[in-house]
Amino acid sequence: MSAAGVDLKKRRFLTAATSAVAGVGAVFVAVPFLGSWAPSARARAAGAPAEADISKLEPGQKINVKWRGKPVWIVRRTEQTVADLSKLTDQLADPASDVPQQPEYCKNEYRSRKPEYLVAVGICTHLGCSPTFRPEMAPDDLGADWLGGFYCPCHGSRFDLAARVYSGFPAPTNLVIPPYYYISDSVILIGEDGGAA
Ligand code: FES
Repeated sequence: MSAAGVDLKKRRFLTAATSAVAGVGAVFVAVPFLGSWAPSARARAAGAPAEADISKLEPGQKINVKWRGKPVWIVRRTEQTVADLSKLTDQLADPASDVPQQPEYCKNEYRSRKPEYLVAVGICTHLGCSPTFRPEMAPDDLGADWLGGFYCPCHGSRFDLAARVYSGFPAPTNLVIPPYYYISDSVILIGEDGGAA
């Protein structure tokens, strides 16, 4: 084969190789573009409401539900706990939930739609730690006045069983109450505000 023939063959090979590489590059560029164009099923699921079955929750117990990547606590309060909530008003920073941007149905001493059940986002309003559930009365480490609640291990903030913060601790506000409503007596939908439900 002549030198000109070899050159021509080499040029055809290089042209084909370059086109192939360009084609691969186009695939890599196109995938992220399409990915950002339409919300993925995972992203839609992450923002979806979460259902919680409370049929087996006993008085004094708590369950956790994940909603939008956050822990949401559901506590079934005992009759004693419900009665005790009104005794704490003087010790709390915002007993009536006057801080704005909270659902209307938490502007009461229970901070809930039904006195028996608390539904709250389990993230401390100070720096985002997860408080510990401490339902027992007067434990040694929390003192004789403790009527049950939540204790944040990071900087010591205390919350009662309506998720209201005690005065004099670092957390500036009560724990957040998410939108929710009762689909039935035993199922709560977290993430949607069902109006009067
Ligand atoms: S994060 Fe809870 S007290 Fe600081």
